Amino acid sequence: MTHALLDAHKTLTELREEREDQGRNPSLNPTMGDIINHRFSRRSLLTGSLAVAAIASTVSPLALLAAKEAKAATASAFDFDEIEVAIEESHFVAPGYDASILLRWGDKVFADSPEFDPMKQSAEAQLKQFGYNNDYVGFVPLEGSNERGLLVVNHEYTNAELMFPAWAKIGKDKDGKDKVEWGEHSPEQVAIEMAAHGGTVIEIAKNDGKWAPVLDSKYNRRIHLGTVMEITGPAAGHLRLQTKADPTGKKVLGTINNCAGGVTPWGTWLMAEENFNGYFGGEIAEDHAEARNYKRYGVPAGDYVWAKFHERFDVSKEPNEANRFGWVVEVDPTDPASTPKKRTALGRMKHEGAESFINKDGRVVFYCGDDERFDYVYKFVTRGTFNPNDRAANMSLLDDGTLHVARFNADGSLDWIPMEHGQGGLTAENGFESQADVLIEARRAADFLGATKMDRPEDVQPNPKTGKVYCLLTNNTKRKAGQEDAANPRAENAFGHIIEITETDGDFAATKSRWEILLKCGDPSVAEVGASFSTATTKNGWFGMPDNCVVDADGRLWIATDGNNEKATGRTDGLWAVDTEGEMRGTSKLFFRVPVGAEMCGPQFTPNAETMFLAVQHPGDAGLATYENPATRWPDFRPDMPVRPAVVVVTKVTGGKIA
Ligand code: FEO
Ligand code: CA
Ligand code: CA
Repeated sequence: MTHALLDAHKTLTELREEREDQGRNPSLNPTMGDIINHRFSRRSLLTGSLAVAAIASTVSPLALLAAKEAKAATASAFDFDEIEVAIEESHFVAPGYDASILLRWGDKVFADSPEFDPMKQSAEAQLKQFGYNNDYVGFVPLEGSNERGLLVVNHEYTNAELMFPAWAKIGKDKDGKDKVEWGEHSPEQVAIEMAAHGGTVIEIAKNDGKWAPVLDSKYNRRIHLGTVMEITGPAAGHLRLQTKADPTGKKVLGTINNCAGGVTPWGTWLMAEENFNGYFGGEIAEDHAEARNYKRYGVPAGDYVWAKFHERFDVSKEPNEANRFGWVVEVDPTDPASTPKKRTALGRMKHEGAESFINKDGRVVFYCGDDERFDYVYKFVTRGTFNPNDRAANMSLLDDGTLHVARFNADGSLDWIPMEHGQGGLTAENGFESQADVLIEARRAADFLGATKMDRPEDVQPNPKTGKVYCLLTNNTKRKAGQEDAANPRAENAFGHIIEITETDGDFAATKSRWEILLKCGDPSVAEVGASFSTATTKNGWFGMPDNCVVDADGRLWIATDGNNEKATGRTDGLWAVDTEGEMRGTSKLFFRVPVGAEMCGPQFTPNAETMFLAVQHPGDAGLATYENPATRWPDFRPDMPVRPAVVVVTKVTGGKIA
């Protein structure tokens, strides 16, 4: 059912995205617009029936065997029945699967949590309840179980207009068109927002075929803006990280805008701090020592009013606080008393995620995207090696290693350029006195190294089965004609693309790799879009704006999208399964779709691939959405309940592996 509200103006999320993603990279790194022969990697696709028919025309047993193999090669790695795109008030999953609500905003995290009462929400209650806008979802098995484990969930941001009753109203913009107008924030509302950010650790278990939270678990924890965190690694304690409240430069309260993330091989949870700039207000003098740094990160953006209530978010009063955000935070979910660590060795940026792989030499490699138009892809290689028998030793791996930034060359080679103080212009004369400066201003450091300006890097996901790495570029409508390059081949790239990286000889620490484009996204039936899905992809199978992804136990790729906004594409966001091997490479199929206004986040599997977790973020946020008038009241569909972001758990009705 098409929702009438969809015809209204841009949503707040869209407006926020536009403001967030203007692109703040002023460097002169080439966009390689002068490269004429773009390196497209669309593979010629022999249809399955033709391939089999050609071989089956002979009769020898060998040929029959070959025919069998050919048939296998032309089959998709996925066997579910594709669903149709639609814009509806509820979610929808492929036939034969169950998609149930596991945890909603406001749900109890502890046995003594108060019941969710949206008309009387308080910060005190919110601190004991599931936070807002679930994004990354990780699963840490307990005692090796696939039916009992810790779910770790990031709560990226808040939608005040959908959270607070009788607060946002419909007003008029300067052209006389309807728009959503925010009310004034009370101190209590700001406190609720701060409590709804961060993350949740919650034990979950499957009993009688049904997953549910274990509320009296000793592991359950809420992380929020008041959680004490330690800053570690090469920039810890640096002058630029010291504030009035923390002269040590090593202790910070909370984490914000935790987008995607990762679970390390030693079972810790990584929360990536993304659009941290939006939380800062005030003004910084143009000649201030941090002015150049803050400009590069878009600080302050003033999306939130927290600066009015908390000096530390006002850059004119506390000019160093914004240097304490934009990091990857490591949390030990098995110890609720542990202090989360902001790991400065991975650099400061708008971190999307931090997925990892144990290299063949034992070092651990983490891939990170910096989600802004024209920003970069990074990888961090630990100095030390993973020790499966010494978890305590693994806990410091993220404090020492080498951060690299990616240069995608037109010949299909990829340079991972080490970001080391003193090398390649990262010197005192350019404002880098030490490695700490390189990490605090990772973006500006990468500018000097000739990194490739990408179309908004989101998840970067290694595939342990194949040794490939998938890099999701969500879109970049600001790339102008003439600014295309081999790795970002479309101007006004509205639908994004996916790059496949092959690390040399399976060495994930390699500094010279190869790359090719797996998919250029968008509607392949519209020639001007220039999409490159395989011809076996149906009208439901294509997608735009790839954002999060997961690789399942069989090495198969699943893509979650953000921004298939209903008006432009006739579809909501969802989860698509993408073949990467054989002749079906580049074929995509729709498995799950979100309710109207939502973004698809999370995708995660239990190790046995029998359970999938999906995060439905900002549902109902379409058109002129307010608390009273959301685009859907998913998932409760009760007039006395607001629309609520929630984690969905997917299982096969008959049991067994998904798809
Ligand atoms: Fe929070 Fe880049 O998505
Ligand atoms: Ca994302
Ligand atoms: Ca992911």
